[in-house]
Amino acid sequence: MTKGKYVLSMFLIPLAFACQPKKTISQTVIPQDIHSFAQPNTARVTHLHWKAAVDFDKKIISGVATWTVECSATATKIIFDTKTLNIEKVVVNDTNEVSFNLSKEVAIFGQALEVPVKSSTKKIEIYYYTSPDAEAVQWLSPQQTAGKKYPFLFTQSEAILARSWIPCQDSPGIRFTYDADVLVPKELLALMSASNPQQKNKDGEYHFEMKQPIPSYLLALTVGDVSFKPISDRAGVYAEPSLIDTAAWEFADLEKMIVGAEQLYGPYTWDRYDVIVLPPSFPFGGMENPKLTFATPTILAGDRSLTSLIAHELAHSWSGNLVTNATWNDFWLNEGFTVYFETRIMEKLYGHDYAEMLASLNLQGLKDEIKSMNENGHAADTKLKLNLAGRNPDDGVTEIAYNKGYFFLRSIEEQFGRDKFDAFLRDYFSQNAFTVMDTDGFIQYIKNYYQSNFRISLTQDLFDAWIFSEGLPKTCPQPKSILFEKVDEVIAHWQTAQKLDAAVIERWSTHEWLHFLTNIPAPLSLIQLRKLDEVGHFTNSGNAEILTVWLTLAIRYQYISAYPKLEDFLIHTGRRKFLSPLYNELVKTEEGKKHAMQIYAKARSNYHFVATNTFDALLRR
Ligand code: BES
Ligand code: ZN
Repeated sequence: MTKGKYVLSMFLIPLAFACQPKKTISQTVIPQDIHSFAQPNTARVTHLHWKAAVDFDKKIISGVATWTVECSATATKIIFDTKTLNIEKVVVNDTNEVSFNLSKEVAIFGQALEVPVKSSTKKIEIYYYTSPDAEAVQWLSPQQTAGKKYPFLFTQSEAILARSWIPCQDSPGIRFTYDADVLVPKELLALMSASNPQQKNKDGEYHFEMKQPIPSYLLALTVGDVSFKPISDRAGVYAEPSLIDTAAWEFADLEKMIVGAEQLYGPYTWDRYDVIVLPPSFPFGGMENPKLTFATPTILAGDRSLTSLIAHELAHSWSGNLVTNATWNDFWLNEGFTVYFETRIMEKLYGHDYAEMLASLNLQGLKDEIKSMNENGHAADTKLKLNLAGRNPDDGVTEIAYNKGYFFLRSIEEQFGRDKFDAFLRDYFSQNAFTVMDTDGFIQYIKNYYQSNFRISLTQDLFDAWIFSEGLPKTCPQPKSILFEKVDEVIAHWQTAQKLDAAVIERWSTHEWLHFLTNIPAPLSLIQLRKLDEVGHFTNSGNAEILTVWLTLAIRYQYISAYPKLEDFLIHTGRRKFLSPLYNELVKTEEGKKHAMQIYAKARSNYHFVATNTFDALLRR
């Protein structure tokens, strides 16, 4: 797919955004996506009206998805993606109930729903209900919330799980606007990736509008006993009542982040930016649902030290939500650009050294990941451009997309200058807003941009080395943090004197501790671990990042005083990024594996599908 094919839509979209002119289907060619049954160039959706009711007793969402569609002159059917959905009936153009075809279930991808259409078909109503184990949806009991009184629900649609709660054309290249009417239990508030209420109403009926076109992976719903607290006129936070003040304090710089982001790369185009802090079973750190980022409570560290995650999700409002990866093979275009943008926001707000600490930790994580991917036979996935044909797009969620992507973009910045790269990014976001980008399209775009604006030819070698080759090029930028160099001195002193200078370490931030714990030389004796724990209080740390690195060491060196904490943490946290290193460290020994399986048996019911799908193979008999 070349950039040329997108050109028309590229010009139409800014217009479309202002006045939504009627496009005909021939005007935009959408790349065929290997992870979707949809054939959008024959028949595609443009708007969703979703009417649904949420039943916590049955763990079912039931309703009607009414799709406005555009069909080509020769179209005879429109294809939707579904997974474990129960389709009751399909009505076309308001009146005609039609017989539809649901294909056989295909592993990972689900079932194609084929509905007969003509070129004149405008509207498809799909009456359906979800299955209690819809993969996107996690139903939490009151016990699994902070308040312990009301149940909670959230969805996680990225990458291809939207199809498990709404029949849709589940491909990042297919955008649509939406509105929704959702009925929930009266005591609870419903929120979506759309314009949102700020308080509960008497009848539990909520209306939502999303006027900007989005792909299906950004559809999101959450229902729970949550309250709202504003941070500025256009930003605020939602959380369970007992956490709302803590959350608002932690995210106090939210408005400054938005302003900083706009100064860097252009206006925030989604009106409001709110964050909801979800219960701890949320499988990710954050999810960039438009207008409403979903976030894990594990970033409430009490010292604002983990807020780069919010900068990350905010940055997706440009990289990802405005300019979207065409398929999951181009995932690095979403995440690599976002890590770059996130790091620039953090630099703007908190200075160069702060950003360099983040980048340095990222480089270390990236190198470790490449090493383990090489050892586990996944070297091919260390290319930025992925080949996920027939595979779960989740296989592409590695440090490669994020941090190899980041260092690639940073290497262009460093080689030709920041001013040029910033000008490029501003135009990249505005000229491609509300369209998709694939890797080849990106290469063409940046080559043309540097050539025509700066008379610089970017050679194919650069792209070959970073995008189409495995591993990390030798030219990879090297972050330099003065604060981390000081930590390195402390480590050197520890090695010779087995002592830590209390006056120095008591001023350390989360990042310095992380650098310390990941670089303290192996092996560590139990005496050393105990000593470290005495000065750093790691086993009792309320900081999930620090705790994860510490508990990994505790497992490696069998520091059993930390095991009760390990079990507690694994049972009560569902964020995969923390579960992975711990379970993987445990299974390295026979005894550890038994321990892991025991814990997993207790913890599994607290995890979202995304996490159980990762760990079942490893830990379930
Ligand atoms: N969009 C991702 C989460 C995601 C990726 C969900 C792929 C499903 C499939 C989100 O923006 C993200 O990157 N989250 C990170 C945040 C971190 C890099 C700051 C996470 O959850 O850890
Ligand atoms: Zn991201």
